[in-house]
Amino acid sequence: MPKVAVIVGSLRKESFNKKLAKACAAVAGDLFSFTFVDISEIPPYNQDQDNNMPAPVLRMKETVAAADAVLFVTPEYNRSVPGVLKNVVDWGSRPYGQNVWGGKPAAVAGTSPSAAGTAVAQSHLRSILTMLGMALISQPEVYITERPGIIAEDGTVTDESTKKFLRDFMSRFEAWVRRTQ
Ligand code: FNR
Repeated sequence: MPKVAVIVGSLRKESFNKKLAKACAAVAGDLFSFTFVDISEIPPYNQDQDNNMPAPVLRMKETVAAADAVLFVTPEYNRSVPGVLKNVVDWGSRPYGQNVWGGKPAAVAGTSPSAAGTAVAQSHLRSILTMLGMALISQPEVYITERPGIIAEDGTVTDESTKKFLRDFMSRFEAWVRRTQ
């Protein structure tokens, strides 16, 4: 089974996006193995540390390097990518010539209580990841409007249409990963 590194762009304990990421894993346990990357200890990027990266950064880079694909699940902050996620992407892109993202297949998803939520953030993120050489699946776009009770704390999807949609998304992602390998 292909290995997927999952990166959630929220540090919030009760993050809806963390739940969505768990839901993506829950509906696709037969398609992929998943490793959730802990980004909570990753410090602000500093180019002075390019050749002496902090341990949490090295762990993140090792997990991504060992994965066949990356799934980004992110909120939108002020119509863009949350700083913590951009920070992780920046660390992973360095030192120059050792960009961990390059050539990896990837997917982007997000959820927000707002109806238009995460579309702009996802578009910005896609632009960044494309520049870094990731092979992004373009369809389906995954904009989930957060509603109480559609995804349980452990990622169990309790709403049937959401479950079907996420299963279809992950099946297409699996086909995409296999095609790009
Ligand atoms: C938000 N939120 C938000 N939502 C949205 O759809 N578009 C936006 O531009 C913003 N901007 C924004 C900025 C900041 C600083 C915060 C804290 C929040 C609301 C956001 O979608 C909501 O707080 C989600 O619950 C955040 O995702 P997690 O942490 O639940 O995964």
